[in-house]
Amino acid sequence: MATVALRKVSKVYEQDRAAPAGGRAAALDDVTLDIAEGEICVLMGLSGCGKSTLLRLLNGLVTPTDGQVLVDGDDLGTLSHRRLQQLRRGTMAMVFQSFALFPHRTVIDNAAFGLEIAGVAKPERLRRSGAVLEQVGLGGHGAQYPHQLSGGMRQRVGLARALAVNPSLLLMDEAFSALDPLTRRGMQDLLLSLQKEQRRTIVFVSHDIDEALHLGDRIAMLHDGRLLQHGAPRAFLTQPAHDHVRAFFQGVDPARHLRAADLIDPVAPPSDATTAGVAADTTLGDLLSRLGQLTAPLTVRDASGVALGAITAASALRVLTRARGSHA
Ligand SMILES: Nc1ncnc2c1ncn2[C@@H]1O[C@H](COP(=O)(O)OP(=O)(O)OP(=O)(O)O)[C@@H](O)[C@H]1O
Ligand SMILES: [Mg+2]
Repeated sequence: MATVALRKVSKVYEQDRAAPAGGRAAALDDVTLDIAEGEICVLMGLSGCGKSTLLRLLNGLVTPTDGQVLVDGDDLGTLSHRRLQQLRRGTMAMVFQSFALFPHRTVIDNAAFGLEIAGVAKPERLRRSGAVLEQVGLGGHGAQYPHQLSGGMRQRVGLARALAVNPSLLLMDEAFSALDPLTRRGMQDLLLSLQKEQRRTIVFVSHDIDEALHLGDRIAMLHDGRLLQHGAPRAFLTQPAHDHVRAFFQGVDPARHLRAADLIDPVAPPSDATTAGVAADTTLGDLLSRLGQLTAPLTVRDASGVALGAITAASALRVLTRARGSHA
């Protein structure tokens, strides 16, 4: 597992490739961000807000104009070329939206590519890439070629290639965006189940709010190169830090995503320990009928039965109005 930190990082491109006259672009502007060991941080924001730039800063392909990028406490700007290359090949791996597979290599040789670059001997390479192909559900497909596979299977190969080097930092740029919704959901669940066993630090770029809420331990939202909000996914619904955040999350259905724990009244008196109450992770959708008949505060309990607080009519209304985008 790896820690990642950005300290007051700015990146100015002298020739913005998106601007018609090729003007300067501050792709990142004074960004400070900490990503903890073993967490999935989803980078969100509109096209051009700087997500890919941030990812490329982490693997050293882009150097900051200002500030520091730290991986496991090492400032990438101070590392020798050799050390940076070691870090890139040994600690990190990247998964791309376009899969980026070699068409003339078999599935197993694609999966083994990172190991080949790292100088791992062939028998060991095949053993390890065979094992990761099993993990991503492609056990029987090693001898096939990419064109024989569906998009979802190709991206499993992309993921296997990244996992084969056993990276502690996994960088994923819109990795599942080219897949149909069902396949995409399947890949998200695969990533989450692998993450339970192998806990890597993952930085995952996505435009998609459902994907971010499903995958992210935390979300970082960028706008015009600035970090607008960084924190727990559901806080983007309950406590948007900026109008742009509110606008971005406006279409999200709170009934699907909010939980009983999000509705707790911060000022309600401690609830009566003897009342039954609801589980903290109950979805708002499942709670709605009870909220309609709320005559007394509703106790919210964690998995071990401890009372976390209580939902009142006022707190439920306050959170809901905020999540629906009005300025309550
Ligand atoms: N290599 C480059 N040269 C010049 N300008 C660049 C380069 N890479 C990015 N930019 C500019 O920096 C800004 C941020 O781009 P970046 O690719 O990081 O955005 P993004 O959030 O990944 O967008 P998208 O969602 O479209 O992939 C844009 O204005 C872009 O044109
Ligand atoms: Mg991008």
